[in-house]
Amino acid sequence: MLVPMKTIVDEAYKGGYGVPALPAHNELLIRGAIEAAVESNSPLIFLVGNFNDGEFNRQMIRHFADQVDIPIATCLDHSPTFNDCVMGIRTGVTCIMADRSMLSYEDNVAQVKALAEVAHAAGVSIEAELGHVGQGDNYAVDGVSMLTDPDEAKKFIEETGVDCLAVAVGTAHGQYKGTPHIDFERLQAINEKCHHPLVLHGGSGTGDENISKACTMGIAKVNVVTDVLQNAVRHVLNSEVDFTEGNNGFRLCPTIQAAAKEMALHMFDVCGCTGKAVGTGLPGLWKAPPRPVRPSAI
Ligand code: 13P
Repeated sequence: MLVPMKTIVDEAYKGGYGVPALPAHNELLIRGAIEAAVESNSPLIFLVGNFNDGEFNRQMIRHFADQVDIPIATCLDHSPTFNDCVMGIRTGVTCIMADRSMLSYEDNVAQVKALAEVAHAAGVSIEAELGHVGQGDNYAVDGVSMLTDPDEAKKFIEETGVDCLAVAVGTAHGQYKGTPHIDFERLQAINEKCHHPLVLHGGSGTGDENISKACTMGIAKVNVVTDVLQNAVRHVLNSEVDFTEGNNGFRLCPTIQAAAKEMALHMFDVCGCTGKAVGTGLPGLWKAPPRPVRPSAI
């Protein structure tokens, strides 16, 4: 069932595990991840966007999520404008990620605080980012700059009311040029100050051990996109099947879906959330939120 993302990250934080947030670019990635979550009893978060038919994919997730008894959240990833966030809320995401990490601290707080009020009024969760998680292909610079300050993080959470906070502790988006170095001391300090669910962006290529460790230190959500996509490409390229031969083209989509499922199962294990979808004993935990009325203009 579709749930506010806060439900999932709060449980994960209390339980000392993380939940992977996976790409939802198309039906095959969505089906593969949900199949994996059902099979392994894991909570699941989808990263959704306003790109590539984003709204259609969100409706598809809702359709599948309604049919399974595991908690699934949809997070509008890196939504840069007020309008983007509000449109996301109106079209039914269960979390917005209001990324204002390139603004000054004061502007970041002001914009996220305003959006937190809107999101919470609609029963939607909100994630923000403090410090800035950069790009893996600029890792020599981005991996060590704009890291999150623990005291500022505590203040930011109090001032904005966000449900979870993405922190910059040495990860980067996309493939790393160089070896990722996670600043675990900083993460520990942030966790000790904040006592609040934290988010790790740039999970791909970060290393299973690093991710598993981070998930015991306050990281409740781990964004993993590039690894999922690359795994699908690998499965197709390395397959013994010649997809151009005869009717083998029919096997292409199942191959991609199986690759998405394989990576989801792996990430559930790495993050420690395998088997965590049931048995928490919280009454009504997975009650679907009321469906927002779909504005006729969309
Ligand atoms: P990766 O592609 O490096 O996994 O990063 C994904 C991400 O953080 C999306 O917000």
